[in-house]
Amino acid sequence: MTSPAVPLTAGPLQLADGRRVWFRPIRPDDTRRLREFHRRLSMHTQRLRFFTPMRELSQSMAEGFCNVDFQRRVAIVVTYPGETTIRGVGRYEMDDGGRSAEVAFVLQDDLQGLGIGPALLSLLAMHARVAGAEQFTAVVLPENSAMLGVFQNCEFPATVTHSDGTTYVRLDISAPQEPRPLVAFGAK
Ligand SMILES: CC(C)(COP(=O)(O)OP(=O)(O)OC[C@H]1O[C@@H](n2cnc3c(N)ncnc32)[C@H](O)[C@@H]1OP(=O)(O)O)[C@@H](O)C(=O)NCCC(=O)NCCS
Repeated sequence: MTSPAVPLTAGPLQLADGRRVWFRPIRPDDTRRLREFHRRLSMHTQRLRFFTPMRELSQSMAEGFCNVDFQRRVAIVVTYPGETTIRGVGRYEMDDGGRSAEVAFVLQDDLQGLGIGPALLSLLAMHARVAGAEQFTAVVLPENSAMLGVFQNCEFPATVTHSDGTTYVRLDISAPQEPRPLVAFGAK
């Protein structure tokens, strides 16, 4: 029997530069917005996320990304408060055993380096742990120092391995952690 989806509410995140962004669960009607978001990304960012400078996110791929069950597949989008335009996405997908989930993140270019990635990671990990996961995994290009830095500096023990020109990260998310002070998620 499938247990019900773990609830995920929307909320703000205060950035280090004083601006605010808004996190909310992804929705099926985000498909067009997600494709537009992808088109606005630099080729460099597209390549870091998908390992190839993919100019377009196909309709079927975008639909797949936007239709999640919030239990085994979860995605959070980043917007500016009061707006619908997507500025970033963090997601995870559990494996069949439900103990391990693969995570991936992408932010629009001018919102990178402001602490959104760490906040998304923290929030997704709290959610995944409640849903029964014990570890996060990620496949990262070796030159992606921003992503590797987020994993290595986060509150979870990280194991990093390299094989065939690809970097593999494993995070132990099983131990409960204090929420990061930067995150004000769930507040109104
Ligand atoms: C990887 C990513 C999600 C990290 O999230 P983030 O909010 O940028 O993370 P942070 O703000 O903690 O920045 C991480 C580090 O990279 C640096 N950095 C990130 N983006 C940068 C940029 N565009 N220019 C310069 N430095 C940058 C930050 O200064 C920070 O370094 P520090 O730890 O020494 O302070 C985000 O940068 C991103 O979307 N990158 C492109 C897509 C991608 O790589 N996805 C990962 C696929 S698995």
